[in-house]
Amino acid sequence: MLQLAGTFLMLTHTEVAMPAAGLSRFDDEVHALLGRMTLEEKIGQMSQVQAAGGRIPDELRSAVAAGRVGSILNEVDVEVVNELQRIAVEDSRLGIPLMMGRDVIHGFKTILPIPLGQAATFNPELVRKGARMAALEAASTGVNWTFAPMIDISRDARWGRIAESFGEDPYLTGVLGAAMVRGFQGSDLGEPGNIAACAKHFAGYGASESGRDYNTTNIPENELRNVYLPPFKAAVDAGVATLMTSFSDLNGVPASGNRFLLKQVLRDEWRFDGFVVSDWASIQQLTVHGFAADDRDAAFAAANAGLNMEMATPTYREHLPELVESGRISMEQIDAMVADILRVKFRLGLFEDPYTDPAEFPAIANADHLSIAQQAALQSLVLLENRNETLPLNRERLKTLAVIGPLADDGYEQLGTWIFDGDPSLSRTPLQAIREFLGDGTEVTYVRAMETSRSRTTDGFDEAVEAARNSDAVVAFLGEESILSGETHSRADIGLPGNQADLLAALRAAGKPVIAVIQAGRPLTLANILDYVDALLFAWHPGTMGGPAIADVLFGVESPSGKLPATFPLMVGQEPIYYNQKNTGRPATPEDFTHMDDLPVRMPQSSWGFASFHLDAGYKPLYEFGYGLSYASFAYSDIEASPVPATLGDTVTVKATVHNRGSLEAEEVVQLYIRDLVGNVTRPVKELKGFQRVRLKPGESREVSFNLGPDDLAFYGREMKRITEAGDFHAWIGGSSAAELRTEFTLVSGPGGNGN
Ligand code: NOJ
Repeated sequence: MLQLAGTFLMLTHTEVAMPAAGLSRFDDEVHALLGRMTLEEKIGQMSQVQAAGGRIPDELRSAVAAGRVGSILNEVDVEVVNELQRIAVEDSRLGIPLMMGRDVIHGFKTILPIPLGQAATFNPELVRKGARMAALEAASTGVNWTFAPMIDISRDARWGRIAESFGEDPYLTGVLGAAMVRGFQGSDLGEPGNIAACAKHFAGYGASESGRDYNTTNIPENELRNVYLPPFKAAVDAGVATLMTSFSDLNGVPASGNRFLLKQVLRDEWRFDGFVVSDWASIQQLTVHGFAADDRDAAFAAANAGLNMEMATPTYREHLPELVESGRISMEQIDAMVADILRVKFRLGLFEDPYTDPAEFPAIANADHLSIAQQAALQSLVLLENRNETLPLNRERLKTLAVIGPLADDGYEQLGTWIFDGDPSLSRTPLQAIREFLGDGTEVTYVRAMETSRSRTTDGFDEAVEAARNSDAVVAFLGEESILSGETHSRADIGLPGNQADLLAALRAAGKPVIAVIQAGRPLTLANILDYVDALLFAWHPGTMGGPAIADVLFGVESPSGKLPATFPLMVGQEPIYYNQKNTGRPATPEDFTHMDDLPVRMPQSSWGFASFHLDAGYKPLYEFGYGLSYASFAYSDIEASPVPATLGDTVTVKATVHNRGSLEAEEVVQLYIRDLVGNVTRPVKELKGFQRVRLKPGESREVSFNLGPDDLAFYGREMKRITEAGDFHAWIGGSSAAELRTEFTLVSGPGGNGN
């Protein structure tokens, strides 16, 4: 049942990628400029150097003036940026302006939820608006290039950088990554306020073994193409101007020297004509990997793979001249790599105007920006538990409230990882927002109880329990401080750190309803606290406006509507864990699972089990991908797929009705999953193929429909070609990846294709 895309070009459109929009516009200008450049100037364009921060050392001044620098990273003082541009444009021989790079990951001064939290919104338009807001704030300081979006598929919550990602799903990551690219770049990179985006880390970084940062990755090509590469393809199709290589070693070839990735996939297959930057020192580190004997060898491997620009280290600068002179790297290779960089500079409009006037930009952290940040925080909140409708809290009936915990009133920690420019003084904390919302009608007692999320003393517990006893309800703000996730900050135990579980147990003993609000940079194992809480709200690191967003949900101004973009395991030993797994030859069912405590002593090895589960954890996560409760209650019905049967190449429509049978107006993320039952390679048990946010009044119903074109049903088969196969499919529509409302459809071979 197989149809190769090459012979079926009418039906799939993925084999021949379109050149990204607008990228070839400046070929004449680029070639004219290249023709005037010396080798040293060309290599200068391929070199990015670190700024000194607020000043220009003589060495940097003369390097820019001599044309030895193509880009600078980490300068955000607009006067210094303008002076650097002036030196490049007026003092250098050819007057080529600079790319000014910065990690603008989830906001600039106004901070949005961490990307993993933004993914929980399942709202591409909101992600786009957030990136646009961040671009405006960053561009007002002269930054014209951000190292975002990070679109590494992350199936392991131990990995600290899962916080910077959109989670575990290739489709969701692709949609949100493309939305973020559009937010940063707009429709025309040359328009004011638009900055170049950078899809990173190409590729496979999220598969670092055991979730330990920078660790080795081994990803079979088929899995690479079906899982890890699609978000990058989506970013390229969205016109992303640049990519960054990963630090990691992919199947024995570190990404920064990986010609398969940088040449075959990116250039030959996808026709990308932006440029690629290394990660920090990752060319030099090819020697540390043991992939290059010395720096010269490293420069050769990276340049030969097609890596355009080196970040931070001088390997290119020091060794490319000799590599070109000796003929190991040809001038044509150098020209092609430099042309890619110059093209992006033209696209950015830097040759027309390299300078920045902050007065031309909207104010930093203006009301619009704060409102986008609040909306994003609001939609990122995932309600995990809500026993006896503990939430929302009723303001009228609440006379006293205990607010407990190290993360209740910490404007810095709520911002999360990678916030170089984030301004904690702008933060509105949960405690502030709760007090503001409740006004004088409710007495709020705040006890921090623990110095940090990691504290191991119980010194503050008595005061916290006393406050809980004297209150009508308790809201505990717990989780991870920012520094416990992000780069290099992986954890092998992903439970609540320090004594937080004990604090919750103590609060529970006070006998009042306990609501835990968890802020964290990753999915956590939470099974050990479930007995201590009546309601559990997961807030990620929600950013500047996290406080008001959380207060709105606690008091029912809005219903929570976030959904998990990554699976929450029951136990850390289940990692890596993800919903779109393969079936295996022996999938477990509820009947198969026996807990190790129930195994008969000295039971013969061969007489029990034979299914894929862990003796202590079973085979299910604690909370599945796509999960999240609402104050409303949504019922799904009337699922239908058409046409019946469908012919290979048709668009299949799957629709269902969603009904709000609750008493509150609320938003729901309606999700479509499919399963391709038999494949040329084994297919996942479920794959997200569409989602829509709908807002429904109590009693309201809506038909939601999704179209699946041939490409949506395609995948890379054994021959590493993208194929669409005839055969049977299941489709589910519902509120999570555990959706049960299912229909089937069949694709039959059309007259033009035999489909085998
Ligand atoms: C290293 C990180 O891996 C990358 O994501 C970041 O953009 C660069 N450093 C620049 O800060």
